[in-house]
Amino acid sequence: MQKIDWENLGFSYRDTNCHIRHSWRNGVWDDGELCASPYLNMHVAAGCLHYGQAAFEGLKAFCCKDGKVRIFRPLDNIRRMAMTARRICMPEVPEELYIKALERVIRANRAFIPPYGTGGSLYIRPLLIGSGVQIGIAPAGEYTFLILVVPVGAYYKGGLHPVKAVIYDDFDRAAPLGVGGIKVAGNYAASLFAHEKAKMEGFAVELYLDAKTHTFVEEFATSNFVGITADGAYVTPESTSILPSITNLTLMELAREQGLDVQARSVRFDELENFSEIGACGTAVVLTPVCSITRGERVIRIGPEQGCGAVFQSLYERVQAIQYSEAPDRYGWCHVVEMDD
Ligand code: PLP
Ligand code: COI
Repeated sequence: MQKIDWENLGFSYRDTNCHIRHSWRNGVWDDGELCASPYLNMHVAAGCLHYGQAAFEGLKAFCCKDGKVRIFRPLDNIRRMAMTARRICMPEVPEELYIKALERVIRANRAFIPPYGTGGSLYIRPLLIGSGVQIGIAPAGEYTFLILVVPVGAYYKGGLHPVKAVIYDDFDRAAPLGVGGIKVAGNYAASLFAHEKAKMEGFAVELYLDAKTHTFVEEFATSNFVGITADGAYVTPESTSILPSITNLTLMELAREQGLDVQARSVRFDELENFSEIGACGTAVVLTPVCSITRGERVIRIGPEQGCGAVFQSLYERVQAIQYSEAPDRYGWCHVVEMDD
């Protein structure tokens, strides 16, 4: 195994020992196998390739202060994938099978879990796809569920440093009654062009408004939107086309604990300039402060241009402390992976 520079991982793919793969045929999931090759042999008429039956998840495992390895809120990801599966006519992965698969693939890749103190984690990417042959429009008759893992550091360069965001009025991501509220691969295809344009123009990420009226804030391409009002309320948009972020649920709980007023409600674009802090939250980005939002000629500046606002700083530290088991896990969010086979 090549030596890994744990402190400077960033967020990019690297090969590990293996991924785990299960198949669904005739209504039954098999026992799964660990596959060393990162390639998948697939029929050219597989449903996922033509009709987009592809769902994924993102979660993390941490090497904790006490030396144990814990996955953060796995059941929430499992249930969200089940919700995605139902919406695009795929079989759900049973919870027990899913947890066992997570544990197996993590154990098999223990050498790739960033050590405690490096700031890294093991990013876990479950994928559920229609792998059966399907040429007329219909759900595929066979499915593949796999989980790959990658050691990662910060998603955006510089960790807790603020990033610039942009709104493009000529691109939407998710229709009001479409699939924005679930994690289908097509949502990311829908945002790729705008995402690349944003990066080329010097923005880390684009922020989407509601597709119907372009009046309300929805979410970033990679993460949910959170704003802190001048009087200290935690505000996050509510809409059917936003992905229910598990990180956001976590932060809301911690914000309530901290005595903040937590509001999940419609957020008008006009309100943006009133926030004292704005952030993007998600598994990959954790909680990334946003220092400006550009829409056409208008630039809305928020919070400090360097560093991070006080509310996000404290929420970020608290969530990380729970993830690395430096603080008590009062909500039972962390799932220990026993390392003995
Ligand atoms: N919104 C989008 C579009 C995402 O891709 C993600 C990442 O998973 C999130 C929000 C954040 O969700 P979570 O906190 O569950 O990772
Ligand atoms: C995650 O945060 O896990 C995601 O799936 C977002 C993706 C853009 C990396």
